[in-house]
Amino acid sequence: MIKKLTLSAFAAVILSAGSAFAAGDEASIHDADFSYEGPFGKYDQNQLQRGLKVYTEVCSACHGLQYVALRTLGDAGGPELPEEQVRAYSTQFEVFDPELDDFREAKPSDHFPASGLENAPDLSLMAKKRAAFHGPYGTGLNQLIQGIGGPEYIAALLTSYTGEEKEEAGSTFYENTAFPGGWIAMAPPLAGEDVDFDDGHSNEIHHEAEDVAAFLMWTAEPKMMARKQAGFVAVLMLLLLSVLLYLVNKKIWAPYKRKH
Ligand code: HEC
Repeated sequence: MIKKLTLSAFAAVILSAGSAFAAGDEASIHDADFSYEGPFGKYDQNQLQRGLKVYTEVCSACHGLQYVALRTLGDAGGPELPEEQVRAYSTQFEVFDPELDDFREAKPSDHFPASGLENAPDLSLMAKKRAAFHGPYGTGLNQLIQGIGGPEYIAALLTSYTGEEKEEAGSTFYENTAFPGGWIAMAPPLAGEDVDFDDGHSNEIHHEAEDVAAFLMWTAEPKMMARKQAGFVAVLMLLLLSVLLYLVNKKIWAPYKRKH
């Protein structure tokens, strides 16, 4: 039994290692160490604030975050902006108010606007819509080890432009080795040094890309830490229950076992 288990565990490792080759064009996406990974991982508040800045100053020109309420920028476990900063931040956006039948300055109770550019997808849930790691062959082993990799995909997408462009049917496409198909309609949004971070963190392109990817993971799953905590408590309770059941079982059968 033990031997069988060891063998299958061994096979699983070999299989998932093999998938790096089987994945072909996804081989260019590497696993990144994000602070929120692992059973006790937490979002890095500073990183989320930097990512918010990259989103605001660069991505928001085209992409919306229409499922994210502005007030959640102040929530514990997120970027945790102080209340007055959330209010000040909100005023830069305009939202349509059906009561006024007109546009007005956004308030923390409003959501981020939708995408301003028609063919730019909303980014609220993008980090959970996309995956960097697949297979091998749908077994899920790779995901078990590396995660689904949405943020890794986004970070890779922003840094995998080759510089090649082509015109097709009146639109320009840019070669990008992380994008499925290889040609994307989004011009390279980051070049490095696009924003200046208040905490003096490096604004090299790879860092900006990782920071905005982490921020988009938060927009897609703002309650990740609460979920992990609940999961941890549930596992503890189940362990306790198992021990109790074991002891009860021993006690119930004790008189019969003694006779033989
Ligand atoms: C000038 C407008 C523009 C800016 C600025 C921009 N994007 Fe895009 N983005 C697009 C368009 C257009 C698409 C759709 C591309 C396609 O489907 O070929 C897109 C697609 C995407 C996708 C989806 C790719 C996929 O797998 O379908 C992601 C993720 C993304 N952008 C992230 C970002 C991030 C992060 C930033 C800021 C650093 C950003 N974008 C800045 C226009 C923009």
